Amino acid sequence: MEMSRKAANLIAASVSLKPDAVLGLATGDTPLGVYKCWIERHAGGEIDFSAATAFNLDEYRNIAPEAEQSYRRYMIDNLYSKIDMRPENRHIPDGLAADPATECERYEKLIAGCGGIDVQLLGIGHNGHIGFNEPGGEFVGNTHLVALSDSTIDANSRFFRRREDVPAEAYTMGIGTIMRARMIILVASGLGKAEIIHRALFGAVTPAVPASILQFHANVTIIGDAAALSMIDGI
Ligand code: F6R
Repeated sequence: MEMSRKAANLIAASVSLKPDAVLGLATGDTPLGVYKCWIERHAGGEIDFSAATAFNLDEYRNIAPEAEQSYRRYMIDNLYSKIDMRPENRHIPDGLAADPATECERYEKLIAGCGGIDVQLLGIGHNGHIGFNEPGGEFVGNTHLVALSDSTIDANSRFFRRREDVPAEAYTMGIGTIMRARMIILVASGLGKAEIIHRALFGAVTPAVPASILQFHANVTIIGDAAALSMIDGI
């Protein structure tokens, strides 16, 4: 798909220019095409991830890393098993960490210790969430534990046998963690995202629409298919 190819190329360019780039990665349906492009290009010898580092945006709490629905497993199945990024350079919050506060601090320090994120890939939830920063009364800065909203649990229940099996909590990079990335690429596809894309980009900047904060980022690129961008005039 054209959208995925564009996003994949932009990030691949960053890795070519800076082989030890620090990438922020997302899960969900939308980035799958990006990962497919990278896998193909890697197989063709065009991209080398061997010096790159990656941090995932989020992970469910109380889910084993090898569980089918864990984001760690998603990353291995959809990307890491098919490219050459070193296992010690692939980071994701530990869903089984004993103490959430310690885990959040560890993750945040690890990102800072690697020099911060060069390029952050984002999807967007139907409610405007980025990572698992759900709509709320304030923007939360750093990596933190969140209670997932009903709409997110509904949306994600497609990956679980029963809705009750969807974890109620997740770790997520905070809005500050995301905004500190030097470059942000948000991908969106389908008519179901059209309204939220419009609100996020042209509506008020408010924690009620977490993605709206991206209006204040100096280097953000939105890449969507025609349906997702259909409510934006002039496109
Ligand atoms: C996933 C993530 C979420 C998704 C969002 C959209 O790591 O952080 O914010 O990007 O829920 O998901 P899809 O792409 O499945 O529509």
